[in-house]
Amino acid sequence: MSPAALLALLRNAVRILSVISHVSGPTGISAPFRLLALGDPQLEGDTAIRNYGRPAFLHLEWAIRHLTFQTEQPSLRKRLRQVTHDLVDVFFDDIPDTLESLRKHVDLFGNDFYLAHIYRTLRWWTKPTHVTVLGDLLGSQWIRDPEFNRRSSRFWNRSFKGAERIPDEIAQYPAEDYNVSGILGKEDSEAALWQRRLINVVGNHDVGYAGDLTPERLERFELAFGKASYELRFELPIEDPIVNATVFDPETNPESNRLLPELRIININNMNLDTPALDQSLQDSTYAFINAVIHTSTAVEFKGHFTLVLTHMPLYKPEGVCVDSPFFDFHEGGGVKEQNQLSADASKGFLEGIYGLSGNDKAPAGGTGRRGVILNGHDHEGCDTYHYINQSLPSDERQWNISRWDAARKDQLPGKPGLPGIREITVRSMMADFDGNAGLLSIWFDQDSWEWKYEFAACELGRQYYWWFVHVFDIILLIILAAYGALEISIISGFDAEKWIEAHVFAPSVNKAEAKADAKIAEMKKANEKTDSCIKEK
Ligand SMILES: *[C@@H]1O[C@H](CO)[C@@H](O)[C@H](O)[C@H]1NC(C)=O
Ligand SMILES: *[C@@H]1O[C@H](CO)[C@@H](O)[C@H](O)[C@H]1NC(C)=O
Ligand SMILES: *[C@@H]1O[C@H](CO)[C@@H](O)[C@H](O)[C@H]1NC(C)=O
Ligand SMILES: *[C@@H]1O[C@H](CO)[C@@H](O)[C@H](O)[C@H]1NC(C)=O
Ligand SMILES: *[C@@H]1O[C@H](CO)[C@@H](O)[C@H](O)[C@H]1NC(C)=O
Repeated sequence: MSPAALLALLRNAVRILSVISHVSGPTGISAPFRLLALGDPQLEGDTAIRNYGRPAFLHLEWAIRHLTFQTEQPSLRKRLRQVTHDLVDVFFDDIPDTLESLRKHVDLFGNDFYLAHIYRTLRWWTKPTHVTVLGDLLGSQWIRDPEFNRRSSRFWNRSFKGAERIPDEIAQYPAEDYNVSGILGKEDSEAALWQRRLINVVGNHDVGYAGDLTPERLERFELAFGKASYELRFELPIEDPIVNATVFDPETNPESNRLLPELRIININNMNLDTPALDQSLQDSTYAFINAVIHTSTAVEFKGHFTLVLTHMPLYKPEGVCVDSPFFDFHEGGGVKEQNQLSADASKGFLEGIYGLSGNDKAPAGGTGRRGVILNGHDHEGCDTYHYINQSLPSDERQWNISRWDAARKDQLPGKPGLPGIREITVRSMMADFDGNAGLLSIWFDQDSWEWKYEFAACELGRQYYWWFVHVFDIILLIILAAYGALEISIISGFDAEKWIEAHVFAPSVNKAEAKADAKIAEMKKANEKTDSCIKEK
């Protein structure tokens, strides 16, 4: 590692540590909510292996069959021609396919453990209170059930070993009369449970886009990884009784706009928000869910709640803001086949619906909406943006604008009067190709402003470990393959190794020994005959 790289690593480490240990007020305790956010692990499997389900050296097998007269051929000339064809194919098909498939096998195996390494190391290092995987847990929505089960098993037993699925009764549907999912700022057995649980978001490679999403695909995902749409509510108790007494109460303190501090996590399946959808009832239920979220939100005038939206597909952005540009593709006969982002209309549902932001300064709370942040994945590269609307413009010119977060902060846009907005963070993928990235979101409560504050940091584990791992296993597997190949070829050619060993190693020596013994016996017989005749003569 070069000195510059080491320096960069240290600088990143210091930055992340400062986020982890972010203090709330003067007490110096760490943030009560620390979320480890992982993007797009995308476990691949058989669909990525070129020669899956067929013999590694198919053409070689045929060549040997022709040569050993195990096939029907009208003439020797044709037989030899077939052998030649097959041998050529061995070089142009079998060998490249096998090497590529072998590389992929090693790659998949190594990747499972690489993801495990990231999960384990970051959990140990950053001590998150909660962990989320932001969709595309698996690499393909078209796999059959057995392969789906194999990959789920690899996900839970290898890459996220020790993690747990969120029980269905904990993952609640938004309701006025909700149950609190947990208390923040405590270190008890319930907190330990939440440290192990994975808040899994559903992605397009898990269930498909709107044009592929069927009840069966959704059901097998939910069974393996947890529900696709739900909310969690975490409360932070206010220990100081004097401060606690300032909280809104309809009877004793009706004038207050302070609510008991609460963190609302909303996990949204946004795969079928855009049209046309294959299954209309599934789309209806997604819209019903979002409406339920909106109707169970507190009025925008109140302070103290923070809404964290976890979803897979990023919100709409014009070309040039992030790596991905707006893109839609449809199946023949309708149905969304692929999309990079939500449509502008669906995005508005998040900004103006869930967050209650408004371009109209006469709207409740001046259109400033609810506090929160949106986390998602999907684009692999990652992006950090700010959505805002300019209330100073004439009403027919007001539009949602999107700026990179750094630029928005430089221009001091967040929090500016007349400019309601919200931050959206697209977390970079945790795959090795994207340097094993993870996001860390720390949220703490500021009692003076009665608002939640947050900070986000991205950390990269790098891919050196991955390459080390893959290369060592490469060599071991190549040796095994060579030995296996030799054995297989010998078996196909009808060649019986046992007989060969018997005939060539044991038989000659046995024969020699037998011959020697025979010669001795003959000698003795002769000698006997001689003595016999002697005796007779006498
Ligand atoms: C993990 O592996 C065990 C044993 O091989 C298996 O019984 C179990 O079903 C696996 N877990 C998942 C979630 O697939
Ligand atoms: C809250 O918990 C109770 C008891 O476990 C359950 O009956 C009720 O349905 C839960 N409420 C919600 C909104 O999930
Ligand atoms: C704070 O006040 C609420 C009532 O508004 C009460 O339910 C809660 O127990 C109090 N919290 C503490 C830590 O005293
Ligand atoms: C909002 O619109 C006003 C009036 O046109 C303009 O002066 C101001 O620069 C705009 N603000 C931003 C951040 O675009
Ligand atoms: C905001 O969006 C409008 C319409 O897309 C565009 O004309 C305007 O230049 C944008 N403003 C900024 C500050 O990007």
